[in-house]
Amino acid sequence: MPVAKSPTTPFDLTAWVTQRSRAVDRALDRFLPRASARPATIHAAMRYSLFAGGKRMRPALLLAAAEACGGAEAEAMPLACAVECIHTYSLIHDDLPAMDNDDFRRGKPTNHKVYGEGIAVLAGDALLTQAFEIAAQARAWPRYSHRDLVLEIARAAGSLQLIAGQVADLEGEGKELSVAQLRYIHERKTSALLSCSVRLGGMSANCTPAQLKALTQFGYHVGLAFQVIDDILDVTQSTEVLGKTAGKDVTAQKATYPRLVGLEKSRRIAAGLTAKAYGALRPFGRRATALESLARYLLERDR
Ligand code: IPE
Ligand code: IPE
Ligand code: MG
Ligand code: MG
Ligand code: MG
Repeated sequence: MPVAKSPTTPFDLTAWVTQRSRAVDRALDRFLPRASARPATIHAAMRYSLFAGGKRMRPALLLAAAEACGGAEAEAMPLACAVECIHTYSLIHDDLPAMDNDDFRRGKPTNHKVYGEGIAVLAGDALLTQAFEIAAQARAWPRYSHRDLVLEIARAAGSLQLIAGQVADLEGEGKELSVAQLRYIHERKTSALLSCSVRLGGMSANCTPAQLKALTQFGYHVGLAFQVIDDILDVTQSTEVLGKTAGKDVTAQKATYPRLVGLEKSRRIAAGLTAKAYGALRPFGRRATALESLARYLLERDR
């Protein structure tokens, strides 16, 4: 597999991500109502999916972007938690029988399998709302007000981006889409929230407009590569390793890169997108080590 070019830096990404994931988990635990808070069902359901064992890649990208701009983890943390709440809500709804109808997620039965469809819909709704409650507690800066932070999240998650992608994904089932149509889906259902994550990381560090532009470029390309790899893994990886049912895209006749252009070309596309993402990091120099390393991991990941 052609691997995108990048400078080799001795950097322990596993240790870096583990440390951040633990900090994100602690912060999420503090931000969310206790599992026993009435009505206990909804809070248990929200926590069930949130703490089921996601890779925490959006928070990691957000924290790494903050680091690239010289920001502090504490300032970025509420926003990192907010994007993970949005992401988890989108997965709970994505798995519903009315959407992708998946029984398995993050190595466990899906939310609706455990709590029923009604509570799963509501747990998703509650996590989406929770994200804004948490984001409102982030620190505002001279360059980025709370208004900017809220707009950033609302736009990425809204009906022109994430939801638009999910709509087109559903409507594309069983159809022969063009690569341009598939790109439209990936830009919205996945890249928008990844891009939003790195931008929020920059904003939490009061980044310059030029830095925000570079982060946007990075996030866009990493986000697209992320979904191409997700499509590839659905075909090549086992359910056990993925923690979600493999082969579902083929069964559901989803429009995916492997279906449209084959596995080899899909891999080349993901590598090319990652190379573009690396290019966007040039202005940050060595401060972008974590971001660059995350982009490489996301290309080479097996789950
Ligand atoms: C899965 O995202 C959904 C997509 C947008 C492809 P992740 O692969 O980040 O899922 P978790 O958070 O690790 O479960
Ligand atoms: C999910 O895409 C995208 C969102 C939830 C916004 P997929 O449907 O490809 O994700 P998986 O494969 O179920 O994780
Ligand atoms: Mg889906
Ligand atoms: Mg799905
Ligand atoms: Mg998928």
